[in-house]
Amino acid sequence: MSLLARIHSKSQANIQEQTTADNSTAVEHPATQQDKIIHVEVSPPLIETSYAPEPSDDYMELKNLIFKYILKERNEEEIEEIVADLDSIITEILNENEGIKDVKDWKLLKEEIKNDLTGYGPINPLLLDDSVTEVMVNGPKQVYAERDGKLGLTNIQFRDNDHVMAVLEKIVAPLGRRIDESSPMVDARLMDGSRVNAIIPPLALNGPTITIRKFSKDPFTINDLIRFGTLNEEMAEFIKASVEAKLNIFVSGGTGSGKTTTLNVLSSFISNKDRIVTIEDAAELQLGQDHVVSLETRPPNIEGKGAIYIRDLVRNSLRMRPDRIVIGEVRGGEALDMLQAMNTGHDGSLATGHSNSPRDMVARLETMVLMAGMELPVKAIREQIAGALDVIIQQSRLKDGTRRITNITEVQGLEGDIIVLQDIFTFKQSGIDQNGKIIGKLVPTGIRPKFYERMENEGIHLPTSIFTEKVEI
Ligand SMILES: Nc1ncnc2c1ncn2[C@@H]1O[C@H](COP(=O)(O)OP(=O)(O)O)[C@@H](O)[C@H]1O
Ligand SMILES: [Mg+2]
Repeated sequence: MSLLARIHSKSQANIQEQTTADNSTAVEHPATQQDKIIHVEVSPPLIETSYAPEPSDDYMELKNLIFKYILKERNEEEIEEIVADLDSIITEILNENEGIKDVKDWKLLKEEIKNDLTGYGPINPLLLDDSVTEVMVNGPKQVYAERDGKLGLTNIQFRDNDHVMAVLEKIVAPLGRRIDESSPMVDARLMDGSRVNAIIPPLALNGPTITIRKFSKDPFTINDLIRFGTLNEEMAEFIKASVEAKLNIFVSGGTGSGKTTTLNVLSSFISNKDRIVTIEDAAELQLGQDHVVSLETRPPNIEGKGAIYIRDLVRNSLRMRPDRIVIGEVRGGEALDMLQAMNTGHDGSLATGHSNSPRDMVARLETMVLMAGMELPVKAIREQIAGALDVIIQQSRLKDGTRRITNITEVQGLEGDIIVLQDIFTFKQSGIDQNGKIIGKLVPTGIRPKFYERMENEGIHLPTSIFTEKVEI
């Protein structure tokens, strides 16, 4: 018996049930740029919607036949066999169905089938395309993507809801998660690290909805941040020195202000000799050093059990003999563990947190420490904070959309009950250009930080001139 015959006989039952549904979708399935995107090797003009030529009826008919024959519940071995033998399968199907003429887009057809069998279906090309940063599936007929910071509709479409669900199953099944009516929302990660959120009907009215934030293969470097105007070269030198001098640094900012990106850049200055432990809710950091241990939290399972939180990981990390602890985002009780770690010899730790100013960050940290449930007096908490943190880097997304470091602030210590903060550099806006872009720069306040001596002792020599205000002529 030929491979096709075997496959066919095995899935007869399925096909019978499916035929009617498939015929109806076969007609509906519109011309898609999917066809174009799949076989074009260079990046397709994704967001400008130039439609690919209408595939012929024969093409569509053959495609639907093939889907009917082979796309039902295959195990890995069968899939391998099918993919290896796709040519002969298609030839056989053509022979069996004399009504259908050979199609020209043979290569394209094979790609589409392969994407369904071994990849993530119609969105596979977007996932493989490094210039695409986000993919959003709003039900079967609408797929958006972001490229170069621009979000736009693509011509990619799925056949129907079931087709989207099949791709979703593929994403969540290997993780031991499931998505169905009883658990209609799920967070998952692709093998390459991309983050996936899915929500399905009846909660999602458009149909199964998938949001993918792709893992960027080359994260921004300090030079990128300088180019974007997030900071200038002198500040870059200063923060590099701060990391090398093993100061404890906290990056503070709103959602999407670029905290994680800055944390990644800060981490890149850590010595290759150090043992680094990173702790995150969703692993985003990408460190280039050799000696890195990455830890990630775990959501509760279907029974609501087994969750592992940042706090658990911070505590565990202390027993891992880290030279540096890097925490993605501090949101709650883990703040206490982080501060204690920083105060007990784990210098040079880095973390981020959500807040609008350095002062606000300090206040929030107090609240977070209280969330640890230890009933510490406020004074003791402040002592912990003042003793632990050396620098707060405040980052903001300005009105014009640019992300800037707006303050580099030293945490000087405790005076009475008050944590003393001293700005070392602040952002000075000097105007707005014709395009609405904010003009301004990070300037020194003229204060030399108290930790300057510590830097010197570590053998890191910064010219004192970087702390003095330049007089513009
Ligand atoms: N300095 C920057 N300049 C321009 N874009 C940035 C900068 N930092 C981050 N981004 C972009 O902004 C988005 C959010 O960045 P991220 O670091 O994840 O922010 P946060 O951790 O504050 O939520 C990402 O798409 C990232 O590529
Ligand atoms: Mg972040």
